[in-house]
Amino acid sequence: MVTADTFSIKVQKTSNSRLSELDFNHLSFGKTFADHMFISDYQDGHWIDSQILPYGSLTMSPANSALHYGQSIFEGMKAYKNDKGEVSLFRPLENQKRINISAERMCMPSIPEELFMDALKQLIKLDKGWVPSNDGASLYIRPFLFATDEFIGVRPSDTYKFMIITSPGGAYYSEPVKVLIETNFIRAVEGGVGFTKCSGNYGRSLFPTKLAQQRGYQQIMWTDARNHRYLEESGTMNLMFVIDDVLITPALGDTILAGITRDSVITLARDWKMKVQERKISIDEVIDAHKRGVLDEAFGTGTAATIADISTIGFEGKDYVLPEVKERIFSNRVAQELNNIKRGKVEDKHNWMYKIG
Ligand code: COI
Repeated sequence: MVTADTFSIKVQKTSNSRLSELDFNHLSFGKTFADHMFISDYQDGHWIDSQILPYGSLTMSPANSALHYGQSIFEGMKAYKNDKGEVSLFRPLENQKRINISAERMCMPSIPEELFMDALKQLIKLDKGWVPSNDGASLYIRPFLFATDEFIGVRPSDTYKFMIITSPGGAYYSEPVKVLIETNFIRAVEGGVGFTKCSGNYGRSLFPTKLAQQRGYQQIMWTDARNHRYLEESGTMNLMFVIDDVLITPALGDTILAGITRDSVITLARDWKMKVQERKISIDEVIDAHKRGVLDEAFGTGTAATIADISTIGFEGKDYVLPEVKERIFSNRVAQELNNIKRGKVEDKHNWMYKIG
């Protein structure tokens, strides 16, 4: 039984820290990696050889089954530093639950809470110096799980690696995004894997996104696979609209990722007594709201981007321009409140912050 295992993590510290080379004032997203990484192997139904090692390359067989058939999933989360220099994670247990939802769908082993949390705590403590303290910056944490069998028959792998790497970074989008409604390509379909963070969900988005970028947009807004009538997600984010003072977001289901930022935004909106609707929202409804002058806001939510305001929505050759970001009451307020909670500047009423030692 995997749950009966105890997890001891061996630590090998780097003798050559790269921290002094890091310029905290010029952080971009996802390019620099902290000194250490976590790695654990799954074999014969057990997680074994859990280690924290200096960050570095892996060697693997060219027949590695994840490379061929995509048994590979990931999570995204962030660590923040407050003004006292204390480090906290934002809702990490939600990521632990979600990686196991993805794992089940992809026929992969689950990661016990103790292993996930011990690995995180020890790794982030060791690389605490890499957590930025400037507003808008954080240490992005990337837990991931992939198959390691050396076998090219199609079946679930018997062996896996669970790893965590971390990367200090700034804003994912530096400006409001221009998005194109996609009515040709599909991100997710009922019965599929759209609710998981499997690598394939991201790989499949690259080509349609490239086509949209060639037309001057940064991202696409995905529509439902059946009729391309309802809006589902935008790029790698959940999607939200404020229409006539109501916060509307697509309801969760097979085709929508249960975003942790999505849930946090909805919770804050309800705290503030704002009307929230989790339901289908059609292209027609959004365009009609724009025509009536009541499409006040549109934005994406995600761990990497937090709140990404949408400046323009393109559809059938026409651009629908939204109000200036400075006029948007809700997205500015919620972005500020989330930042304040993460940086310990306001009370954490929902116990979202998880202190690391
Ligand atoms: C995240 O927000 O953590 C994501 O999954 C986006 C990532 C693919 C950059």
